[in-house]
Amino acid sequence: MNTSMLIRRFKRLRQNYFFDRRFGAFIGGTKKTPFAHMGAENTANIAYEELPPLFRDGLRPGEVLVDVGCGKGRVLNWWLDTFPGYRMYGIELDEDVAAETETRLRNYPVTIVIGDIRTLAPEDGTLYFLFNPFNADVMAGFLDTLKKRAAGLPDGVPGPIRVIYYNCLHLHVFEADPDCRVTLIPVPPQFHRAALITIGSQDD
Ligand SMILES: C[S@@+](CC[C@H](N)C(=O)[O-])C[C@H]1O[C@@H](n2cnc3c(N)ncnc32)[C@H](O)[C@@H]1O
Repeated sequence: MNTSMLIRRFKRLRQNYFFDRRFGAFIGGTKKTPFAHMGAENTANIAYEELPPLFRDGLRPGEVLVDVGCGKGRVLNWWLDTFPGYRMYGIELDEDVAAETETRLRNYPVTIVIGDIRTLAPEDGTLYFLFNPFNADVMAGFLDTLKKRAAGLPDGVPGPIRVIYYNCLHLHVFEADPDCRVTLIPVPPQFHRAALITIGSQDD
C-alpha cells in the first residue's frame, strides 16, 4: 500500500471513529454472519464518506427510510444526523446485532425490527437502502415483497418506492424485471458500484 492510500485509510478510520462516538460507541469491525445458510452476508459497516454521493438527490417530503440489514447501525447514525425528522427503520436478521443497535440508539427516533426483510418490510417504507446484505435468491424474494408494498402504499407517503443499492452485486435481479427502472449512481472510482431502482408504475 502506498503512502496516499495509507493516508486515505487513516482519514476514513478517524472520521468513522468520531462520527460513531457521537452516537454512543465506535462500531467498527466485521461480524461473521451465523445466517449464511439463509443467504446473508456478514455484518460489515459502510464508511461515512461513502454515503453522501448515494443520497445526493436528497429526500422527498414525507420519505420513510429503511436500512435493509442495518447491522450495527452506521447508516442509521448518518440518517439521524443528515435527515432529522424523517421516519426511519433498521431491519436486521441477526438478533444479537439488532439488539445491540437497538440498545445503542434507544434514545433516538428510529425503529429497529429483528428478522427477515422479506416478511418485515414496513408497509410505509418509501426509500430502501442496501449495502450488499444478501444473495440473489433472497434479493428476488425481497423484490416480490417490495412490489406488493408498492401496490399498497398508505396515503400521505410519497411513491414510487425507490431502492438505493450499494455494492450492487445482484443488480441483475432488478434489471430483469419490467416493473423496475435501474440507473447507476455516479460515485468516486474507489467506491463500490451503486444503483438507484424505482419500483412500480414507470409513468410516475
Ligand atoms: C453488509 S451489512 C450492512 C450493514 C449496514 N447497512 C451498513 O451499511 O453499515 C449487511 C447486513 O444485512 C443483514 N441481513 C442479511 N440478510 C438479511 C435479511 N434477509 N433480512 C434482514 N437483514 C439481513 C446481515 O445480517 C448484515 O448485518
